[in-house]
Amino acid sequence: MSRNDQLDLTENWKFVCTEVFELTEFERKIWDISMTNNELQTLAKKHLWMNFTRMGSFKDQDMPIITHGEGCYVYDTHGKKYLDGLAGLFVTQVGHGRKRLADAAAKQAEKLAFFPVWSYAHEPAIRLAARLAELAPGDLNRVFFTGSGSEAVEAALKLVRQYFAETGEPQRYKIISRNLAYHGTTMGALSINGVSQIRNKFGPLVPGAIHVENTDSYRGRHWTDGDTSLSFGKKCALDIERAIEIEGPETVAAVFLEPVQNSGGCLVPPEGYFQEVRKICDKYGIKLVSDEVICAFGRLGYMFGAERYDYLPDIITCAKGLTSGYAPMGAMICRDHLMEPFMEEQATFLHGVTFGGHPVSCAVALENLDILEEEDLLGNVRKNEALFRELLEGLYDIPIVGDVRGDGYFFAIELVKDKSTKEPFSPEESEKLLFEFLSPRLFEAGLMCRTDDRGSPLIQLSPPLVAGPDELREIVDILRVVITEAVEVLKNS
Ligand SMILES: Cc1ncc(COP(=O)(O)O)c(C=O)c1O
Repeated sequence: MSRNDQLDLTENWKFVCTEVFELTEFERKIWDISMTNNELQTLAKKHLWMNFTRMGSFKDQDMPIITHGEGCYVYDTHGKKYLDGLAGLFVTQVGHGRKRLADAAAKQAEKLAFFPVWSYAHEPAIRLAARLAELAPGDLNRVFFTGSGSEAVEAALKLVRQYFAETGEPQRYKIISRNLAYHGTTMGALSINGVSQIRNKFGPLVPGAIHVENTDSYRGRHWTDGDTSLSFGKKCALDIERAIEIEGPETVAAVFLEPVQNSGGCLVPPEGYFQEVRKICDKYGIKLVSDEVICAFGRLGYMFGAERYDYLPDIITCAKGLTSGYAPMGAMICRDHLMEPFMEEQATFLHGVTFGGHPVSCAVALENLDILEEEDLLGNVRKNEALFRELLEGLYDIPIVGDVRGDGYFFAIELVKDKSTKEPFSPEESEKLLFEFLSPRLFEAGLMCRTDDRGSPLIQLSPPLVAGPDELREIVDILRVVITEAVEVLKNS
Protein backbone atom coordinates (compact mmCIF):
# COMPACT_ATOMS: atom_id res chain seq x y z
CA MET A 1 0.00 0.00 0.00
CA SER A 2 1.43 3.38 -0.95
CA ARG A 3 1.80 6.17 1.54
CA ASN A 4 -0.94 8.13 -0.27
CA ASP A 5 -3.36 5.22 -0.05
CA GLN A 6 -2.67 4.95 3.64
CA LEU A 7 -3.40 8.62 4.10
CA ASP A 8 -6.62 8.34 2.07
CA LEU A 9 -7.73 5.43 4.12
CA THR A 10 -6.88 7.08 7.40
CA GLU A 11 -8.79 10.23 6.40
CA ASN A 12 -11.76 8.22 5.20
CA TRP A 13 -11.78 6.12 8.34
CA LYS A 14 -11.49 9.18 10.57
CA PHE A 15 -14.46 10.73 8.79
CA VAL A 16 -16.62 7.63 9.27
CA CYS A 17 -15.72 7.34 12.92
CA THR A 18 -16.06 10.95 13.86
CA GLU A 19 -18.91 12.16 11.62
CA VAL A 20 -20.96 9.01 11.14
CA PHE A 21 -20.45 7.10 14.37
CA GLU A 22 -19.51 10.24 16.33
CA LEU A 23 -16.70 8.38 18.05
CA THR A 24 -13.47 9.84 19.31
CA GLU A 25 -10.25 8.36 17.97
CA PHE A 26 -9.72 6.77 21.36
CA GLU A 27 -13.17 5.16 21.41
CA ARG A 28 -12.68 3.75 17.92
CA LYS A 29 -9.43 2.11 18.93
CA ILE A 30 -10.72 0.49 22.07
CA TRP A 31 -13.99 -0.71 20.52
CA ASP A 32 -12.24 -2.02 17.41
CA ILE A 33 -15.13 -0.99 15.16
CA SER A 34 -15.09 -2.88 11.86
CA MET A 35 -14.72 -1.18 8.51
CA THR A 36 -17.81 -0.36 6.49
CA ASN A 37 -18.76 -2.36 3.39
CA ASN A 38 -17.62 0.47 1.13
CA GLU A 39 -14.22 0.68 2.74
CA LEU A 40 -13.77 -3.07 2.51
CA GLN A 41 -14.86 -3.07 -1.15
CA THR A 42 -12.34 -0.37 -1.99
CA LEU A 43 -9.47 -2.17 -0.32
CA ALA A 44 -10.46 -5.61 -1.62
CA LYS A 45 -10.71 -4.39 -5.20
CA LYS A 46 -7.27 -2.83 -4.91
CA HIS A 47 -5.40 -5.53 -3.02
CA LEU A 48 -7.12 -8.87 -2.57
CA TRP A 49 -6.50 -11.63 -5.11
CA MET A 50 -9.10 -14.32 -4.54
CA ASN A 51 -8.41 -17.99 -5.34
CA PHE A 52 -9.88 -19.46 -8.54
CA THR A 53 -11.91 -16.26 -9.07
CA ARG A 54 -12.68 -14.17 -12.13
CA MET A 55 -11.36 -10.98 -10.56
CA GLY A 56 -12.39 -8.91 -13.58
CA SER A 57 -16.04 -9.56 -12.77
CA PHE A 58 -15.78 -7.21 -9.79
CA LYS A 59 -14.78 -4.16 -11.80
CA ASP A 60 -18.36 -2.91 -11.90
CA GLN A 61 -19.93 -4.79 -9.04
CA ASP A 62 -19.31 -5.43 -5.37
CA MET A 63 -17.76 -8.64 -4.19
CA PRO A 64 -19.56 -10.64 -1.55
CA ILE A 65 -17.91 -10.03 1.81
CA ILE A 66 -18.81 -12.46 4.56
CA THR A 67 -18.59 -11.22 8.11
CA HIS A 68 -19.66 -14.05 10.41
CA GLY A 69 -21.52 -17.30 10.69
CA GLU A 70 -23.64 -19.36 13.01
CA GLY A 71 -24.63 -22.98 12.53
CA CYS A 72 -25.64 -23.51 8.89
CA TYR A 73 -25.83 -19.78 8.12
CA VAL A 74 -23.40 -16.99 7.24
CA TYR A 75 -23.94 -13.23 6.99
CA ASP A 76 -22.53 -10.55 4.72
CA THR A 77 -21.54 -6.93 5.25
CA HIS A 78 -25.14 -5.85 4.57
CA GLY A 79 -26.40 -8.16 7.31
CA LYS A 80 -27.97 -10.49 4.75
CA LYS A 81 -28.27 -14.14 5.81
CA TYR A 82 -27.30 -17.07 3.58
CA LEU A 83 -27.79 -20.78 4.03
CA ASP A 84 -24.34 -22.28 3.59
CA GLY A 85 -25.18 -25.23 1.37
CA LEU A 86 -21.52 -25.98 0.69
CA ALA A 87 -20.08 -25.89 4.24
CA GLY A 88 -17.74 -23.11 3.07
CA LEU A 89 -15.95 -25.34 0.59
CA PHE A 90 -16.83 -28.86 1.83
CA VAL A 91 -15.17 -27.84 5.12
CA THR A 92 -17.35 -26.64 7.98
CA GLN A 93 -18.67 -30.01 9.22
CA VAL A 94 -19.72 -28.80 12.69
CA GLY A 95 -21.16 -25.51 11.41
CA HIS A 96 -20.09 -21.91 11.93
CA GLY A 97 -19.53 -19.95 15.12
CA ARG A 98 -18.39 -22.71 17.48
CA LYS A 99 -16.84 -20.94 20.45
CA ARG A 100 -15.52 -24.26 21.71
CA LEU A 101 -13.19 -24.53 18.72
CA ALA A 102 -12.07 -20.91 19.02
CA ASP A 103 -11.31 -21.54 22.71
CA ALA A 104 -9.34 -24.70 21.91
CA ALA A 105 -7.24 -22.69 19.44
CA ALA A 106 -6.65 -19.85 21.90
CA LYS A 107 -5.73 -22.20 24.73
CA GLN A 108 -3.16 -24.00 22.59
CA ALA A 109 -1.76 -20.75 21.15
CA GLU A 110 -1.14 -19.48 24.68
CA LYS A 111 0.63 -22.66 25.69
CA LEU A 112 2.66 -23.44 22.56
CA ALA A 113 1.63 -21.52 19.45
CA PHE A 114 4.18 -23.05 17.17
CA PHE A 115 6.83 -25.66 17.05
CA PRO A 116 7.67 -27.78 14.02
CA VAL A 117 7.33 -31.55 13.91
CA TRP A 118 10.72 -31.68 12.24
CA SER A 119 12.92 -33.67 14.65
CA TYR A 120 10.71 -32.63 17.59
CA ALA A 121 7.25 -33.76 18.60
CA HIS A 122 4.56 -32.06 20.69
CA GLU A 123 1.55 -33.33 22.57
CA PRO A 124 -1.26 -32.07 20.27
CA ALA A 125 0.37 -33.73 17.21
CA ILE A 126 0.98 -36.97 19.11
CA ARG A 127 -2.58 -37.10 20.44
CA LEU A 128 -4.11 -36.28 17.06
CA ALA A 129 -1.96 -38.85 15.21
CA ALA A 130 -3.01 -41.53 17.70
CA ARG A 131 -6.67 -40.51 17.46
CA LEU A 132 -6.66 -40.61 13.64
CA ALA A 133 -4.89 -43.99 13.68
CA GLU A 134 -7.61 -45.29 15.97
CA LEU A 135 -10.39 -43.92 13.74
CA ALA A 136 -8.88 -45.01 10.42
CA PRO A 137 -9.64 -48.50 9.14
CA GLY A 138 -7.26 -51.49 9.30
CA ASP A 139 -3.58 -50.82 9.91
CA LEU A 140 -3.62 -47.22 8.66
CA ASN A 141 -1.63 -46.29 11.74
CA ARG A 142 0.94 -43.70 10.69
CA VAL A 143 0.02 -40.04 10.27
CA PHE A 144 2.01 -37.37 8.41
CA PHE A 145 0.57 -33.88 8.83
CA THR A 146 0.40 -31.17 6.18
CA GLY A 147 -1.13 -27.71 5.89
CA SER A 148 -3.79 -28.48 3.25
CA GLY A 149 -5.39 -31.08 1.01
CA SER A 150 -3.05 -30.40 -1.93
CA GLU A 151 -0.10 -30.87 0.39
CA ALA A 152 -1.55 -34.14 1.65
CA VAL A 153 -1.89 -35.39 -1.94
CA GLU A 154 1.60 -34.11 -2.77
CA ALA A 155 2.98 -35.96 0.27
CA ALA A 156 1.24 -39.18 -0.79
CA LEU A 157 2.63 -38.86 -4.31
CA LYS A 158 6.15 -38.35 -3.02
CA LEU A 159 5.81 -41.10 -0.44
CA VAL A 160 4.84 -43.76 -2.97
CA ARG A 161 7.69 -42.71 -5.25
CA GLN A 162 10.26 -42.71 -2.46
CA TYR A 163 8.84 -45.94 -1.00
CA PHE A 164 9.42 -47.74 -4.30
CA ALA A 165 12.85 -46.11 -4.68
CA GLU A 166 13.81 -47.43 -1.23
CA THR A 167 12.41 -50.92 -1.85
CA GLY A 168 14.26 -51.56 -5.10
CA GLU A 169 11.61 -50.57 -7.66
CA PRO A 170 12.60 -47.01 -8.64
CA GLN A 171 10.96 -47.47 -12.06
CA ARG A 172 7.51 -47.37 -10.41
CA TYR A 173 6.62 -43.70 -10.70
CA LYS A 174 3.37 -43.51 -12.66
CA ILE A 175 0.13 -42.50 -11.01
CA ILE A 176 -3.32 -43.44 -12.26
CA SER A 177 -6.25 -41.16 -11.51
CA ARG A 178 -9.61 -40.52 -13.16
CA ASN A 179 -10.94 -38.14 -15.77
CA LEU A 180 -12.30 -34.92 -14.29
CA ALA A 181 -11.03 -35.75 -10.78
CA TYR A 182 -9.64 -32.81 -8.77
CA HIS A 183 -6.73 -33.57 -6.46
CA GLY A 184 -5.32 -30.11 -5.69
CA THR A 185 -3.11 -27.46 -7.18
CA THR A 186 0.55 -28.00 -6.21
CA MET A 187 2.48 -29.23 -9.27
CA GLY A 188 2.39 -32.94 -8.38
CA ALA A 189 -1.24 -32.91 -7.29
CA LEU A 190 -2.13 -30.72 -10.28
CA SER A 191 -0.48 -33.16 -12.67
CA ILE A 192 -2.72 -36.01 -11.57
CA ASN A 193 -5.83 -33.83 -11.85
CA GLY A 194 -8.22 -35.02 -14.50
CA VAL A 195 -9.56 -31.51 -15.03
CA SER A 196 -7.82 -30.33 -18.18
CA GLN A 197 -9.03 -26.68 -17.87
CA ILE A 198 -6.96 -26.14 -14.73
CA ARG A 199 -3.97 -28.23 -15.87
CA ASN A 200 -3.27 -27.04 -19.35
CA LYS A 201 -1.72 -23.63 -18.66
CA PHE A 202 1.04 -25.06 -16.45
CA GLY A 203 2.97 -27.50 -18.58
CA PRO A 204 5.30 -29.21 -18.61
CA LEU A 205 3.65 -31.08 -15.77
CA VAL A 206 5.10 -33.78 -13.55
CA PRO A 207 5.51 -36.84 -15.79
CA GLY A 208 3.77 -40.14 -15.20
CA ALA A 209 0.14 -39.07 -14.73
CA ILE A 210 -2.27 -41.48 -16.43
CA HIS A 211 -6.00 -40.80 -16.60
CA VAL A 212 -8.75 -43.39 -16.85
CA GLU A 213 -12.55 -43.33 -17.01
CA ASN A 214 -14.43 -42.23 -13.92
CA THR A 215 -17.60 -43.83 -12.52
CA ASP A 216 -20.12 -41.54 -14.20
CA SER A 217 -23.08 -43.87 -14.66
CA TYR A 218 -25.15 -41.15 -16.38
CA ARG A 219 -22.85 -40.56 -19.33
CA GLY A 220 -19.83 -42.85 -18.90
CA ARG A 221 -18.40 -44.85 -21.79
CA HIS A 222 -16.16 -47.86 -21.21
CA TRP A 223 -14.14 -50.04 -23.55
CA THR A 224 -16.00 -53.08 -22.18
CA ASP A 225 -19.46 -51.63 -22.94
CA GLY A 226 -20.16 -54.36 -25.50
CA ASP A 227 -19.91 -57.06 -22.84
CA THR A 228 -23.32 -57.20 -21.17
CA SER A 229 -22.20 -59.84 -18.67
CA LEU A 230 -20.07 -57.29 -16.80
CA SER A 231 -21.46 -55.15 -13.97
CA PHE A 232 -20.89 -51.39 -14.19
CA GLY A 233 -18.49 -51.58 -11.23
CA LYS A 234 -16.43 -54.25 -12.96
CA LYS A 235 -16.33 -52.23 -16.21
CA CYS A 236 -15.00 -49.16 -14.38
CA ALA A 237 -12.38 -51.24 -12.54
CA LEU A 238 -11.28 -52.87 -15.79
CA ASP A 239 -10.52 -49.39 -17.17
CA ILE A 240 -7.88 -49.13 -14.45
CA GLU A 241 -6.51 -52.61 -15.13
CA ARG A 242 -6.24 -51.92 -18.83
CA ALA A 243 -4.28 -48.70 -18.19
CA ILE A 244 -1.93 -50.61 -15.88
CA GLU A 245 -1.29 -53.21 -18.55
CA ILE A 246 -0.76 -50.63 -21.28
CA GLU A 247 1.70 -48.65 -19.17
CA GLY A 248 3.49 -51.76 -17.86
CA PRO A 249 2.50 -52.84 -14.33
CA GLU A 250 6.11 -52.56 -13.11
CA THR A 251 6.05 -48.80 -13.84
CA VAL A 252 2.86 -47.93 -11.90
CA ALA A 253 3.24 -46.73 -8.31
CA ALA A 254 -0.30 -45.84 -7.23
CA VAL A 255 -3.94 -45.31 -8.08
CA PHE A 256 -5.50 -42.16 -6.58
CA LEU A 257 -9.30 -42.24 -6.20
CA GLU A 258 -11.83 -40.25 -4.21
CA PRO A 259 -14.53 -42.37 -2.51
CA VAL A 260 -17.11 -40.11 -4.22
CA GLN A 261 -15.54 -38.05 -7.01
CA ASN A 262 -16.46 -34.43 -6.51
CA SER A 263 -15.52 -32.91 -9.82
CA GLY A 264 -17.82 -34.24 -12.53
CA GLY A 265 -20.60 -34.08 -9.95
CA CYS A 266 -20.60 -36.51 -7.02
CA LEU A 267 -19.70 -39.62 -9.01
CA VAL A 268 -20.48 -42.41 -6.57
CA PRO A 269 -18.65 -45.74 -6.76
CA PRO A 270 -20.73 -48.49 -8.34
CA GLU A 271 -21.35 -51.70 -6.43
CA GLY A 272 -18.18 -53.79 -6.11
CA TYR A 273 -15.92 -51.16 -7.72
CA PHE A 274 -13.52 -50.53 -4.85
CA GLN A 275 -13.27 -54.24 -4.00
CA GLU A 276 -12.32 -54.93 -7.62
CA VAL A 277 -9.81 -52.04 -7.71
CA ARG A 278 -8.26 -53.28 -4.46
CA LYS A 279 -7.80 -56.73 -6.03
CA ILE A 280 -6.21 -55.21 -9.15
CA CYS A 281 -3.81 -53.09 -7.08
CA ASP A 282 -2.80 -56.16 -5.03
CA LYS A 283 -2.31 -58.23 -8.17
CA TYR A 284 0.21 -55.73 -9.60
CA GLY A 285 1.79 -54.49 -6.33
CA ILE A 286 0.33 -50.99 -6.73
CA LYS A 287 -0.69 -48.70 -3.84
CA LEU A 288 -4.29 -47.55 -3.53
CA VAL A 289 -4.68 -43.97 -2.29
CA SER A 290 -8.11 -42.84 -1.09
CA ASP A 291 -8.19 -39.06 -1.54
CA GLU A 292 -10.68 -38.11 1.17
CA VAL A 293 -10.01 -34.40 1.32
CA ILE A 294 -13.78 -33.95 0.96
CA CYS A 295 -15.19 -37.36 1.86
CA ALA A 296 -13.73 -37.92 5.35
CA PHE A 297 -15.03 -36.78 8.75
CA GLY A 298 -18.69 -37.45 8.25
CA ARG A 299 -19.36 -36.00 4.80
CA LEU A 300 -20.65 -39.46 3.77
CA GLY A 301 -21.98 -40.36 7.24
CA TYR A 302 -18.78 -42.20 8.22
CA MET A 303 -15.41 -41.07 9.55
CA PHE A 304 -13.82 -42.13 6.25
CA GLY A 305 -15.33 -42.80 2.84
CA ALA A 306 -13.33 -46.06 2.67
CA GLU A 307 -15.38 -47.26 5.63
CA ARG A 308 -18.67 -46.49 3.91
CA TYR A 309 -17.73 -48.40 0.76
CA ASP A 310 -15.83 -51.09 2.67
CA TYR A 311 -12.32 -51.08 1.20
CA LEU A 312 -8.88 -50.75 2.72
CA PRO A 313 -6.65 -48.20 0.98
CA ASP A 314 -2.89 -48.04 1.56
CA ILE A 315 -3.05 -44.29 2.13
CA ILE A 316 -5.83 -41.86 3.03
CA THR A 317 -5.31 -38.18 2.27
CA CYS A 318 -7.57 -35.78 4.18
CA ALA A 319 -7.93 -32.10 5.19
CA LYS A 320 -10.95 -29.71 5.25
CA GLY A 321 -13.38 -31.36 7.73
CA LEU A 322 -10.51 -32.49 9.96
CA THR A 323 -10.67 -29.11 11.70
CA SER A 324 -14.01 -27.99 10.24
CA GLY A 325 -11.90 -25.12 8.88
CA TYR A 326 -11.32 -23.46 12.25
CA ALA A 327 -7.59 -23.84 11.47
CA PRO A 328 -5.91 -25.05 8.28
CA MET A 329 -4.69 -28.63 8.27
CA GLY A 330 -4.24 -31.72 6.12
CA ALA A 331 -2.96 -35.23 6.76
CA MET A 332 -1.71 -38.35 5.03
CA ILE A 333 -2.57 -41.54 6.92
CA CYS A 334 -0.57 -44.64 5.90
CA ARG A 335 -0.62 -48.36 6.45
CA ASP A 336 2.19 -49.78 8.57
CA HIS A 337 4.17 -51.37 5.73
CA LEU A 338 4.69 -47.98 4.02
CA MET A 339 6.64 -46.82 7.07
CA GLU A 340 8.95 -49.82 7.23
CA PRO A 341 11.70 -48.62 4.85
CA PHE A 342 11.81 -45.37 6.80
CA MET A 343 12.49 -47.07 10.14
CA GLU A 344 16.08 -47.89 9.19
CA GLU A 345 18.47 -45.77 11.22
CA GLN A 346 19.46 -43.27 8.54
CA ALA A 347 16.37 -43.43 6.35
CA THR A 348 14.25 -40.30 6.02
CA PHE A 349 11.12 -39.44 4.09
CA LEU A 350 12.54 -36.42 2.29
CA HIS A 351 9.51 -34.25 2.62
CA GLY A 352 7.95 -31.77 5.02
CA VAL A 353 6.26 -28.38 5.38
CA THR A 354 6.81 -25.86 8.15
CA PHE A 355 3.19 -25.85 9.27
CA GLY A 356 2.60 -29.62 9.08
CA GLY A 357 1.27 -30.66 12.49
CA HIS A 358 0.78 -27.06 13.64
CA PRO A 359 -0.05 -27.26 17.37
CA VAL A 360 -3.06 -24.93 17.12
CA SER A 361 -4.51 -26.87 14.18
CA CYS A 362 -3.97 -30.16 16.03
CA ALA A 363 -5.75 -28.85 19.13
CA VAL A 364 -8.66 -27.64 16.98
CA ALA A 365 -8.84 -30.97 15.14
CA LEU A 366 -9.00 -32.90 18.43
CA GLU A 367 -11.83 -30.69 19.69
CA ASN A 368 -13.60 -30.95 16.33
CA LEU A 369 -13.45 -34.77 16.49
CA ASP A 370 -14.91 -34.57 20.02
CA ILE A 371 -17.83 -32.50 18.68
CA LEU A 372 -18.44 -34.92 15.79
CA GLU A 373 -18.62 -37.77 18.28
CA GLU A 374 -20.48 -36.10 21.16
CA GLU A 375 -23.20 -34.72 18.89
CA ASP A 376 -23.29 -37.85 16.74
CA LEU A 377 -23.08 -35.76 13.59
CA LEU A 378 -22.20 -38.81 11.50
CA GLY A 379 -25.44 -40.37 12.76
CA ASN A 380 -27.27 -37.15 11.85
CA VAL A 381 -26.03 -37.46 8.26
CA ARG A 382 -27.03 -41.13 8.06
CA LYS A 383 -30.43 -40.33 9.52
CA ASN A 384 -31.23 -37.49 7.09
CA GLU A 385 -29.47 -38.67 3.95
CA ALA A 386 -32.56 -40.45 2.55
CA LEU A 387 -34.67 -37.32 3.06
CA PHE A 388 -32.05 -35.14 1.36
CA ARG A 389 -31.97 -37.51 -1.60
CA GLU A 390 -35.76 -37.67 -1.80
CA LEU A 391 -36.11 -33.88 -1.68
CA LEU A 392 -33.50 -33.42 -4.40
CA GLU A 393 -35.03 -36.13 -6.57
CA GLY A 394 -38.29 -34.21 -6.23
CA LEU A 395 -36.70 -31.66 -8.58
CA TYR A 396 -36.82 -34.13 -11.49
CA ASP A 397 -40.06 -32.56 -12.67
CA ILE A 398 -38.05 -29.47 -13.76
CA PRO A 399 -37.15 -30.04 -17.44
CA ILE A 400 -33.41 -29.28 -17.13
CA VAL A 401 -32.75 -31.45 -14.04
CA GLY A 402 -31.05 -34.42 -15.71
CA ASP A 403 -29.45 -36.36 -12.88
CA VAL A 404 -29.31 -36.18 -9.08
CA ARG A 405 -26.49 -38.18 -7.51
CA GLY A 406 -24.44 -38.47 -4.36
CA ASP A 407 -24.37 -40.01 -0.91
CA GLY A 408 -24.42 -38.69 2.65
CA TYR A 409 -24.50 -34.88 2.70
CA PHE A 410 -22.75 -34.67 -0.66
CA PHE A 411 -24.94 -34.34 -3.75
CA ALA A 412 -24.81 -32.89 -7.25
CA ILE A 413 -27.51 -31.98 -9.75
CA GLU A 414 -26.54 -32.27 -13.41
CA LEU A 415 -28.39 -29.88 -15.69
CA VAL A 416 -29.14 -30.91 -19.26
CA LYS A 417 -30.61 -29.32 -22.34
CA ASP A 418 -32.77 -32.30 -23.21
CA LYS A 419 -33.62 -34.86 -20.59
CA SER A 420 -34.81 -37.55 -22.99
CA THR A 421 -31.53 -37.60 -24.94
CA LYS A 422 -29.27 -36.33 -22.08
CA GLU A 423 -28.07 -33.68 -24.56
CA PRO A 424 -25.68 -31.40 -22.67
CA PHE A 425 -25.62 -27.62 -22.89
CA SER A 426 -22.97 -26.20 -25.22
CA PRO A 427 -20.02 -24.41 -23.52
CA GLU A 428 -21.60 -21.04 -24.41
CA GLU A 429 -24.97 -22.08 -23.02
CA SER A 430 -23.34 -23.45 -19.86
CA GLU A 431 -21.48 -20.19 -19.37
CA LYS A 432 -24.71 -18.24 -19.65
CA LEU A 433 -26.68 -20.60 -17.48
CA LEU A 434 -24.13 -20.98 -14.69
CA PHE A 435 -22.24 -17.73 -14.53
CA GLU A 436 -24.75 -15.21 -15.84
CA PHE A 437 -27.84 -16.63 -14.19
CA LEU A 438 -27.66 -19.49 -11.66
CA SER A 439 -24.64 -18.47 -9.65
CA PRO A 440 -25.69 -14.84 -8.97
CA ARG A 441 -29.38 -15.73 -8.62
CA LEU A 442 -28.82 -18.54 -6.08
CA PHE A 443 -26.66 -16.15 -4.08
CA GLU A 444 -29.33 -13.47 -4.28
CA ALA A 445 -31.91 -16.02 -3.14
CA GLY A 446 -29.78 -16.71 -0.06
CA LEU A 447 -28.22 -20.07 -0.91
CA MET A 448 -24.49 -20.67 -1.03
CA CYS A 449 -23.70 -23.66 -3.19
CA ARG A 450 -21.41 -24.34 -6.09
CA THR A 451 -22.20 -24.12 -9.73
CA ASP A 452 -19.57 -25.98 -11.66
CA ASP A 453 -18.68 -26.29 -15.32
CA ARG A 454 -15.88 -28.85 -15.06
CA GLY A 455 -17.76 -31.24 -17.34
CA SER A 456 -21.53 -30.74 -17.64
CA PRO A 457 -23.16 -27.84 -15.75
CA LEU A 458 -23.69 -28.85 -12.14
CA ILE A 459 -25.01 -27.58 -8.86
CA GLN A 460 -23.07 -29.07 -5.96
CA LEU A 461 -24.28 -29.34 -2.39
CA SER A 462 -22.49 -30.24 0.81
CA PRO A 463 -24.20 -28.62 3.81
CA PRO A 464 -22.69 -28.59 7.31
CA LEU A 465 -23.30 -31.91 9.06
CA VAL A 466 -25.41 -30.14 11.70
CA ALA A 467 -28.10 -29.47 9.07
CA GLY A 468 -31.43 -31.11 9.83
CA PRO A 469 -34.66 -31.57 7.84
CA ASP A 470 -35.53 -27.84 8.01
CA GLU A 471 -32.26 -26.70 6.45
CA LEU A 472 -32.32 -29.46 3.84
CA ARG A 473 -35.88 -28.42 2.86
CA GLU A 474 -34.83 -24.78 2.70
CA ILE A 475 -31.96 -25.67 0.34
CA VAL A 476 -34.25 -27.59 -2.00
CA ASP A 477 -37.03 -24.95 -1.88
CA ILE A 478 -34.57 -22.28 -3.04
CA LEU A 479 -33.19 -24.59 -5.72
CA ARG A 480 -36.70 -25.26 -7.05
CA VAL A 481 -37.48 -21.56 -7.42
CA VAL A 482 -34.16 -20.66 -9.04
CA ILE A 483 -33.85 -23.65 -11.41
CA THR A 484 -37.45 -23.11 -12.53
CA GLU A 485 -36.58 -19.48 -13.28
CA ALA A 486 -33.54 -20.71 -15.23
CA VAL A 487 -35.82 -22.70 -17.52
CA GLU A 488 -37.72 -19.49 -18.36
CA VAL A 489 -34.48 -17.56 -18.89
CA LEU A 490 -33.26 -20.26 -21.30
CA LYS A 491 -36.57 -20.20 -23.20
CA ASN A 492 -36.35 -16.46 -23.67
CA SER A 493 -32.69 -16.31 -24.65
C1 LIG B 1 -10.32 -34.55 -3.49
C2 LIG B 1 -9.47 -33.34 -3.23
N1 LIG B 1 -8.15 -33.47 -3.12
C3 LIG B 1 -7.35 -32.41 -2.88
C4 LIG B 1 -7.88 -31.14 -2.74
C5 LIG B 1 -6.99 -29.97 -2.47
O1 LIG B 1 -7.19 -29.50 -1.18
P1 LIG B 1 -6.75 -28.01 -0.76
O2 LIG B 1 -7.64 -27.08 -1.49
O3 LIG B 1 -6.94 -28.00 0.72
O4 LIG B 1 -5.32 -27.85 -1.13
C6 LIG B 1 -9.26 -30.96 -2.85
C7 LIG B 1 -9.85 -29.63 -2.70
O5 LIG B 1 -11.02 -29.43 -2.82
C8 LIG B 1 -10.09 -32.08 -3.12
O6 LIG B 1 -11.41 -31.96 -3.25
